[in-house]
Amino acid sequence: MNGDEGGVEYHSNALRGPANAFGLALAGGPLERLLDGRKRQVFANLPETVLEIGPGVGANFRYMHTGTKVLAVEPNSAMHSRLQTAARRYGIELELHCSAAEALDVPDGSVPMVISSLVLCTVQNPSRVVAEILRVLETGGRYAFVEHVAAAPGSRLRRLQHTVRQPWAYFFEGCSCERELSALIRAAGFAAVELVEYSAGPRWLPVHTQISGVAVK
Ligand SMILES: C[S@@+](CC[C@H](N)C(=O)[O-])C[C@H]1O[C@@H](n2cnc3c(N)ncnc32)[C@H](O)[C@@H]1O
Repeated sequence: MNGDEGGVEYHSNALRGPANAFGLALAGGPLERLLDGRKRQVFANLPETVLEIGPGVGANFRYMHTGTKVLAVEPNSAMHSRLQTAARRYGIELELHCSAAEALDVPDGSVPMVISSLVLCTVQNPSRVVAEILRVLETGGRYAFVEHVAAAPGSRLRRLQHTVRQPWAYFFEGCSCERELSALIRAAGFAAVELVEYSAGPRWLPVHTQISGVAVK
């Protein structure tokens, strides 16, 4: 267990926490090839300070300028050494917060940019996380995301996402393939939301239904 600052508890299993960190490092190359086009669009022109929720082992540092200050909110401490190595590799100034994004330890209206990739599927309470993102952004600040979401209701893929939900959540530390994140982000209270829905990867993959976009406060 770690990262219970701000009254939100985050539980990482002693075996699956490190296993997920190892898995992310291993899957990093193929995953990046799959998502690179989307990420290049929404993570273009990142400012000098970025808050990233759930950065894992640092897959998104490559989209930042050398010298960027990253407030990295990563509650799984098994990710940290790889995250620090990635920060050194890309010349990132890392400020590591070992806490859950449901309670960001950051003042209101204090950051110009928040990013996430494949994180809202895993957090305990995605509505609360998006409310926190909105709280910490400056007026005019941006939230850029690449996330996987639920397939259309009644579709074969949606049934598969439902069928695999328990083992999937067990192995991937709470990850759900059934979250309707487009509606959640649109309803959160941003001044503007630009969002696209698309398919990434093979059709049998429970996480191939995805969204990417930018929301402005
Ligand atoms: C599937 S990984 C994605 C990692 C990285 N963003 C990427 O694209 O490679 C999900 C990440 O979210 C983190 N996470 C889980 N619950 C969280 C929470 N409540 N707040 C912040 N991060 C969380 C996990 O520790 C993990 O690093």
